[in-house]
Amino acid sequence: MKILGIETSCDETGVAIFDEEKGLIANQLYSQIEMHADYGGVVPELASRDHIRKTLPLIDAALKEANLTAKDIDGIAYTAGPGLVGALLVGATIARSLAYAWQVPALGVHHMEGHLLAPMLEDNPPPFPFVALLISGGHTQLVKVDGVGQYELLGESIDDAAGEAFDKTGKLLGLDYPAGVPVSKLAEQGTPNRFIFPRPMTDRPGLDFSFSGLKTFAANTINANLNAEGNLDEQTRCDIAHAFQQAVVDTIIIKCKRALQQTGYKRLVMAGGVSANKQLRADLAEMMKNLKGEVFYPRPQFCTDNGAMIAYTGFLRLKHGEHTDLSVSVKPRWAMTDLPEIA
Ligand code: KG4
Ligand code: ZN
Repeated sequence: MKILGIETSCDETGVAIFDEEKGLIANQLYSQIEMHADYGGVVPELASRDHIRKTLPLIDAALKEANLTAKDIDGIAYTAGPGLVGALLVGATIARSLAYAWQVPALGVHHMEGHLLAPMLEDNPPPFPFVALLISGGHTQLVKVDGVGQYELLGESIDDAAGEAFDKTGKLLGLDYPAGVPVSKLAEQGTPNRFIFPRPMTDRPGLDFSFSGLKTFAANTINANLNAEGNLDEQTRCDIAHAFQQAVVDTIIIKCKRALQQTGYKRLVMAGGVSANKQLRADLAEMMKNLKGEVFYPRPQFCTDNGAMIAYTGFLRLKHGEHTDLSVSVKPRWAMTDLPEIA
C-alpha cells in the first residue's frame, strides 16, 4: 500500500509518499517562511495562495522522487485540521479531486496526530504506551497515549502555545518570525541567572501551561534595561533570551515529570516545532536519565510541519479501512481526543 500525504495547514507545503513495505519513499517540502517574515507572522490569505501554487508541483516531484506514477498510489491523506481554514481547504480540495480522478480513497488527517506519530518514522520508534508532549506554534499539549487513537488530554496551554511565546518574545527582541531558532541562538550567548523569569503555573498542581505572561515579563525586562540610546545592548539581549528560554524549558520539564509520575509511564515522546530546541532536549535528557526513562523525538526536519507525518498517519488509518466521503470539508478546530481508536 502506497499513500500520498499532503500537508497545508499553515505555512509549509509538505508532500510525501509512505510505502507499507519500504517506509518513507518520497518527501518534498516548501516553506513559505520568507514570504511571511516581512509581515511578522503568517498572513492566512497569502498562505492559501502559495499552497495553490506549490502543492501540485510538489506532488509531481514526490512521484518522481519515488519513481512512481499516479497509478501506483493506493490512497491520499491530507491535513483536515486543525489549522488555517483557507490553507486547509487548498490541500483538502486537491487531495479529494486527485482521489476522485485516480479512484482511490482519501482521508482527512489530524495535524497533531501527525506530529504525535512522527517519531514512528525513525529507526527506534517508541512502543505504546507513552506520554506525548506536543509543542508547536499553535499547540502545547501533554497527552497520554495508549495506542493510535487512544488519547487522553492531560494538560494544555490556557493561552499562548510555547512556540507562539518564542515568536512573540523574539519579536520584542527585534527578531524575524518564526523566532524560535534565533531566540535559542541568542540564548546560547546569554549569562545564566542575570535575569530570572517566572515558571508559570508550576506552583500549583495540574498539567496545564500558561506562557503569555512570559512575553509580558520579557517586555517589562526590556523596557527596564534600555541603554541611553533607547536600545538593548547585545549582551543584555542575549541574557533576556537566555532567561526566557530557561523559563520555558524548566516549566515544560516540571510538567513532563509530573505527567510521567501521574501516569506511571516511563516513555516520553516529543514532537512539534519547539521539540527541536537544543536546551530543552539537553535538559529533558538529563531528567529522563534521573527517572530511568526514555525520550523519543522525530528527526529535526520532522519536528516542524511536513508531509511525511501526514502520509504515515493516513497510511495507518486508511489501512484500517477509514476514509472520508466525497465532500471537501475541513476542521480548523478539532480535538484529538475525538479521533477513533485503531484496534
Ligand atoms: O510544528 P511547527 O512547525 O508548526 C506548527 O504547527 O505550529 O512549529 C513551529 C513553531 C514556531 O513557533 C517556531 O518558532 C518554533 O516552532 N520553533 C522553535 C524552534 N524551532 C522551531 N522554538 C524553539 N526552539 C527551536 N529550536
Ligand atoms: Zn505543526
